[in-house]
Amino acid sequence: MILHSHLDTNEQGHLTIGGMDTVELAREFGTPAYVMDESVVRANFRTYLTAARTHFGENALPAFASKALCFTEIYRIAAEEGLGIDCVSGGELYTAKRAGFPAERIYFHGNNKTDADLRQALDMGVGTIVVDNTDELKALDAIAQELGRVQRILLRITPGIDPHTHRAISTGNVDSKFGNAIVTGGAMTITKMALSLPGVHLAGFHCHVGSQIFEISPFRDAADIMVRYLADVKRETGFVTEELNLGGGLGVRYTEHDAHVDYAKSIADIATVVREKVRAADIKMPRVILEPGRSLVAAAGITLYTVGSVKEIPGFKNYISVDGGMPDNPRYALYQSEYTALIANRAAEPADYRATVAGRCCESGDLIGEDMPIQHAQRGDILAVLSTGAYNYSMASNYNRLPRPPVVMIKEGAARVVVRRESFEDLVRNDL
Ligand code: LLP
Repeated sequence: MILHSHLDTNEQGHLTIGGMDTVELAREFGTPAYVMDESVVRANFRTYLTAARTHFGENALPAFASKALCFTEIYRIAAEEGLGIDCVSGGELYTAKRAGFPAERIYFHGNNKTDADLRQALDMGVGTIVVDNTDELKALDAIAQELGRVQRILLRITPGIDPHTHRAISTGNVDSKFGNAIVTGGAMTITKMALSLPGVHLAGFHCHVGSQIFEISPFRDAADIMVRYLADVKRETGFVTEELNLGGGLGVRYTEHDAHVDYAKSIADIATVVREKVRAADIKMPRVILEPGRSLVAAAGITLYTVGSVKEIPGFKNYISVDGGMPDNPRYALYQSEYTALIANRAAEPADYRATVAGRCCESGDLIGEDMPIQHAQRGDILAVLSTGAYNYSMASNYNRLPRPPVVMIKEGAARVVVRRESFEDLVRNDL
């Protein structure tokens, strides 16, 4: 096993994913390429679904935060596995619709939904819109009334928690651009407004504290604060909350230094807090929605590249340059996120070399990682980066006019392309 149980080496010393030789996969599908093990995705979906139902009750639902990974086939898989989804844009909604995803299990998010977004969501029959702010609430109410509809909504609440993670990906703070803070009174104001508007049906509340979180305490704190808020709302308005969405955020292993997170146990722990607090506050147990993104798909994916050059700058550093980079994985450039990289065709050899893995863009910051332990490399080798299933393909760009890589899904020893490689023709499609 290398980092995750579906990654290993074979007799040739090649890295394998789900038992398939990554060097063969690189040969067949070309590089760069994202490769995902579908059984890992499905197993994670099931872990969440089973744990949510076991600990929160049969009506609990994990909604896959599809900003982490969005294409038609992933929505088909989520639909088959009985999950809900979180969509954040017209594009994600459109893709989910194309996949035939049941609209009633969609949670539509975003801090600045346009009128067109809201109309699209209503047209599609999106089950729940998670309303971020009072401007959006009023706009939605007006559109729903115009269409003669009553839209089910949750309100996004900021519980005021610092989740000890990277600042750019923490969203539960009072000064966040998302949601309505409890401590400022903003949450109660929007709650009362929602209760007074005929075009919306307030079902409950949503919070999300941040992403890539390993400790359980921010989730316990958020659950505590949210349940107390539900009790306050009941006391002040008489409203009984049907549904509480606790967001996503559990961490994933990118390197050997990251802990293994037991997702089922984490869900059990959070459920214990919610149940205790619900009992203490003497309110009705709401239906609970969880919204994991990264922890469902990150580990399942790897990215395969071909090494183009190895440059040693004596006394400074070594570079291994690959045929992709920040356009297919912007996470080091954006957050200095750590990854594990290895030479797939020499994966059984010790990682006794150190190199900065660089992309091919005309930009010094185009790196996959600095000073990474890795096997010795040479031009033509296949370099694999692990745990790239979340926020890689979905954050990919065409910087330097590089076509986006394909997504290859493997399952039981067979590989299929679920997103094809972009062509140069694709790149100029909208050029006039
Ligand atoms: N729900 C809401 C409302 C969110 O904003 C997010 C993530 C999630 C759920 C899922 O969180 P997860 O389980 O994936 O941690 N691009 C960044 C991550 C941004 C996360 C944004 N919101 C990265 O590459 O690390």
